[in-house]
Amino acid sequence: MMGVHKFNLQKVTVCCWAVVFLVLSSTEIISASKEKCDTCKNIVKNFKEGLEKTKKSNFGGGNTRWEEKSLGAWAHSETRLVEIWDNYLCNSESKDCHFMLEKYEEDVEEFWFNVHSKNENADMHEWLCIDKIKVCCPSNTYGPKCKDCTGGKDRPCQGNGECDGEGTRSGSGKCKCNDGYHGDICDECTDGYFEESKNDTHTQCTQCDKSCKSTCWEDGPKGCDECKNGWVMSEDDGCQDINECEDDVPCDENQYCTNTVGSYHCATCHRSCLGCHGYGNNKCEECKNGYRKENDICNDINECEEDTTLCSGDKQTCNNVDGSYECQCDDNLLYDIDSKTCIPKPKAPPKSSKSKDNKDKKKGNTEKDKPGFIMILGMILVFYICGSIVQWNLIIVLGLSTVFAVFLYWFGMQYEMQ
Ligand SMILES: *[C@@H]1O[C@H](CO)[C@@H](O)[C@H](O)[C@H]1NC(C)=O
Repeated sequence: MMGVHKFNLQKVTVCCWAVVFLVLSSTEIISASKEKCDTCKNIVKNFKEGLEKTKKSNFGGGNTRWEEKSLGAWAHSETRLVEIWDNYLCNSESKDCHFMLEKYEEDVEEFWFNVHSKNENADMHEWLCIDKIKVCCPSNTYGPKCKDCTGGKDRPCQGNGECDGEGTRSGSGKCKCNDGYHGDICDECTDGYFEESKNDTHTQCTQCDKSCKSTCWEDGPKGCDECKNGWVMSEDDGCQDINECEDDVPCDENQYCTNTVGSYHCATCHRSCLGCHGYGNNKCEECKNGYRKENDICNDINECEEDTTLCSGDKQTCNNVDGSYECQCDDNLLYDIDSKTCIPKPKAPPKSSKSKDNKDKKKGNTEKDKPGFIMILGMILVFYICGSIVQWNLIIVLGLSTVFAVFLYWFGMQYEMQ
């Protein structure tokens, strides 16, 4: 029985590892083949750049001109290939690039001497990356055998998406649709879009108006199937923004309302207003106490000027402030609102000496606490070690040690007090 169980477990383990290995290696292969195509494409790109840069190169030196003239061979010379190879093909320090060049050295040479020398416009990408090294595919094809992408080679995904693995020897060839499209070949519209036009080869989806809740059947606010919150359907104009501020103003008493697209906004009135229809001291319904309306503007009242009896007590000065006034006292005195007189400031208690006393007291306490605290910790530790040796129950150990430590602490306090 045990043996069978064990055998099964082994089987399962092996199987699991196999699956993990397969998954890892397959993703490795897929990503590797996409990267290999990129590496090859880069070599082709660098080759073209190298060609351009070495167009007018001369060898510079004695027999150069002779060589160039008599052989006319610079354009297709081995020297030029070497120069391009060494200086351009793997411009980055990419290991993959050097590895690929080394492996396919003969093919690149063949391209140079047999293909490019005969036709300067020969497609190196097609010749090398697709046909020789077989790491890339022609455009709109994918996978190891360069199959047509979903939706066909001419316009895969109806031009409304990307074909997975396109142009490489990897991928699934399936469509990843652009915003607004879905379906195997991206020929259907998602919610929030409507089908503007469609035939066998073309589908055009257009976004619904911003006033639509989700779906629509044509452009503009009239095309909505339902209106978004904050919009209301009108027979003539489709979904229209609701002006929340128009009827029942949804704001607090001392606020004003601003209509926004699809919503509204409440903001506090100017400080001089008691109710308002916008921001500013000229948009008040009424003025707050301390302000008076002049030419539709709520202006601050200068109470001190208008009523000279204010702050008329001994050593008092009237001081106008925005919306009110204040009485100030001379000679460093304090204005008492209840009695409306100036009184001396209360003397601050002598702080310095007292705080020093406190500090000293505290310091003493902590110094006394310290040995007691350390003693308790020490006792717990000692009992714990002893307990674990004799294998007592941990709770008994902790209990005993705490009791004993507290006793010692108390004893220490008594002793120190004397
Ligand atoms: C399909 O529509 C596209 C664009 O709307 C147009 O260019 C194409 O000619 C049409 N094809 C057919 C078969 O009607």
